[in-house]
Amino acid sequence: IFWCHVVLLFIKQAKDAAKVLSGGGVLFASYLAATGDGRFYANCLMPALQRALGAEAAHVLAVRLTGWGVVPWSHYRDPASLEVNVMGCRFKNPVGMAAGFDKHAEAVDGLFKMGFGFVEVGTVTPKAQEGNPQPRVFRLVPDQAVINRYGFNSCGLVKVSERLKARSMVQSELTEGGLQLGVNLGKNKSSLDAASDYQEGIRTMGPLANYLVINVSSPNTPGLRNLQGKEELRHLLVKVLKERDSLPGQKTPVLVKIAPDLTAQDKQDIADVITEVGVDGIIVSNTTVSRPNTLKDPQREEVGGLSGQPLKDLATQVVRDMYRLTDGKIPIIGVGGIASGQDAMEKIRAGASLVQLYTALVYHGPPVVTKIKKELEDLLKEQGFSNISEAVGADHRNACVKL
Ligand SMILES: Cc1cc2nc3c(=O)[nH]c(=O)nc-3n(C[C@H](O)[C@H](O)[C@H](O)COP(=O)(O)O)c2cc1C
Ligand SMILES: *[C@@H]1O[C@H](CO)[C@@H](O)[C@H](O)[C@H]1NC(C)=O
Ligand SMILES: *[C@@H]1O[C@H](CO)[C@@H](O)[C@H](O)[C@H]1NC(C)=O
Ligand SMILES: *[C@@H]1O[C@H](CO)[C@@H](O)[C@H](O)[C@H]1NC(C)=O
Ligand SMILES: *[C@@H]1O[C@H](CO)[C@@H](O)[C@H](O)[C@H]1NC(C)=O
Repeated sequence: IFWCHVVLLFIKQAKDAAKVLSGGGVLFASYLAATGDGRFYANCLMPALQRALGAEAAHVLAVRLTGWGVVPWSHYRDPASLEVNVMGCRFKNPVGMAAGFDKHAEAVDGLFKMGFGFVEVGTVTPKAQEGNPQPRVFRLVPDQAVINRYGFNSCGLVKVSERLKARSMVQSELTEGGLQLGVNLGKNKSSLDAASDYQEGIRTMGPLANYLVINVSSPNTPGLRNLQGKEELRHLLVKVLKERDSLPGQKTPVLVKIAPDLTAQDKQDIADVITEVGVDGIIVSNTTVSRPNTLKDPQREEVGGLSGQPLKDLATQVVRDMYRLTDGKIPIIGVGGIASGQDAMEKIRAGASLVQLYTALVYHGPPVVTKIKKELEDLLKEQGFSNISEAVGADHRNACVKL
């Protein structure tokens, strides 16, 4: 509590000073917090950081610090029960960093140090592009949520691939140890041909990644109307998978990431197509364009995708639907509002083999990763599972749970 006041005072004073100064304050606080006390982060450091900095500045700073390895040290060692073998890869633990935090691959090794079992870089677009004008990220603090309309600011494939090649840690060695790297591919805003943008992404990033992600989330018109339905989606995915198949070496798994704002028909269509063409996995879900009427923060009116706590149950329901529609045969990565072991377990029991998070990191800081893993380990034991795989889709096998 004492340090908390010191840090708050420091940050308060730095508020009017240059950004560099508050950056230094946070650096100082990070040093104090190097032991990774979860409550210190959730109740003190993260709120202080938020008071001092706008949402995007805080994001940029967090990426910098993580990139420099200024990450609390965790003594937790992933137990065998958290290991997952899926899509031909071994994951030391099922908790991943979702796309959008490390868009330009500046902090991959720091994120592994934080305890993530896998890290998804991106979205990366073929050419560099600026994204939307600022402000474009908003914290809805009372809702434990974020709204973003970054609009895919990206350094482009060349820059990001160079950065991945220049990392100090060798990914093939990490991969061997069960730490996997994903790359989320986008298309240029001005591009008229989505498929060729994705193909370019696959050629450049395929050799550097353990898995690739293609976005199939249509923002403004929920559902697939942007892709003019099933046919167009099938064509897109066939081209994408053909490109992947033409790469030398092992086949890099290709996943699709979907929106939570889908009609029953959309979900059925997507399930049909991905089963037919042989997509390797599904990420469920992206942010939502919906605005649950529970939202308290007036910034709920901002345009963009909503993430965090208010997205949680919506995303879990889509995980459940997609698991059922694909007969549990296609691995699912569950994402949306996960901030505890219980939240992760809900996604897993609904059908997710792995989980990801982003917004919880904004509110709870790095210790949330270890916290989730510890709680998950305990919950597995409590519920009588010897490992994660046994719990995947458990709700579907329990007639008492209403699906
Ligand atoms: C600020 C921000 C930026 C994001 N950028 C991307 C992105 O570039 N590509 C993407 O596929 N998802 C992006 N996402 C979505 C997340 O990967 C994730 O699907 C979503 O936030 C739900 O998870 P959460 O509730 O744990 O944050 C972004 C999310 C946030 C909050
Ligand atoms: C999980 O447990 C099952 C036995 O119930 C076993 O077949 C499987 O190999 C285990 N998975 C991992 C990743 O250890
Ligand atoms: C994601 O997909 C939707 C349509 O499916 C498209 O409108 C949007 O621009 C895509 N985003 C990126 C970054 O590719
Ligand atoms: C990609 O986007 C940028 C910025 O919107 C644009 O200048 C560039 O021409 C685009 N490139 C392609 C191949 O569409
Ligand atoms: C995710 O959803 C947002 C709006 O909710 C949308 O703008 C974006 O294109 C979607 N796709 C990705 C990859 O983020």
